[in-house]
Amino acid sequence: MPKSLIEFRDWSSNELQKLIQNSFYLEKNKGVLNFESKPVVALLFFESSTRTRISFEIACHRENYSSVLLSGKSGSSLDKGETLQDTIENIVAMKPDLLVVRSDHQLNQAEWAQRLNIPFISAGWGSMAHPTQALLDVRTLMKKGRDLSKTKLVIIGDIQHSRVAQSHFQLSEKLGYDLAVLPHNQIQVPRHVRCLSNFDEALSWSNVIMALRYQVERHQEKMENEEMKKWQINSQILQNWKEDGLLLHPGPVNYGYEMAIDAKSSEKYLLMDQVESGVWVRRACMNYFLRGAM
Ligand code: CP
Repeated sequence: MPKSLIEFRDWSSNELQKLIQNSFYLEKNKGVLNFESKPVVALLFFESSTRTRISFEIACHRENYSSVLLSGKSGSSLDKGETLQDTIENIVAMKPDLLVVRSDHQLNQAEWAQRLNIPFISAGWGSMAHPTQALLDVRTLMKKGRDLSKTKLVIIGDIQHSRVAQSHFQLSEKLGYDLAVLPHNQIQVPRHVRCLSNFDEALSWSNVIMALRYQVERHQEKMENEEMKKWQINSQILQNWKEDGLLLHPGPVNYGYEMAIDAKSSEKYLLMDQVESGVWVRRACMNYFLRGAM
């Protein structure tokens, strides 16, 4: 019996025929030899990620799902010129039970989710959506005992390129928290979202601040460093702000720009609480699709 399947030299035609026949047997019997196999989640991360990717992986382990991961171009056939579309079609042909996808705007995630006959969770889509991030932000506030109907969240900075802001535009309407933005560039926001024009107004209106990284990789024009610091949140600002104020940031943070490193010492800094919530939210999202658990 061959010890590996690399070259066919070690294999007899009989063994190879048997192998192929077994694959037909499995298909005919719906994988009966494997009836206890766990649901398989395909994690397709075409853009960089730390928090979202690792938390989905940990969520898979905790929920006893198997996961397969495609992380970035390198190491996949995208490197050889295969398109994202072909990559997804090929992975779907292998019949995973759930797709989790992070991509830029070039992949129309909404269209793909409609077209595919398999559940699809966005793990971040260009500047369009990051639903699990918005859910984990809200969960973090709820865990802190916040009543969403009394929550006034202001998102500050690079709103134009923020998929997190887009998801909050939708989620705030569904869950009934007040939302404002203090955008770096003029942008259109939905009617229920306030557009503020200065930092002091943002501090006085809100009881939760979300700072955002300037997503220079999506900018058409170079942004001056000083511009990225103009609304920098630091420990002094947090100390002088409302006693019950809370600080969020989806991460990654560029300390020294939208936030000073000393903000980490504030009790209002909830970034690690957000990351912890991320695993629970992603577990719940996957269970919804794979176990119908509500
Ligand atoms: N918040 C967030 O999406 O972080 P990552 O890019 O590290 O996943």
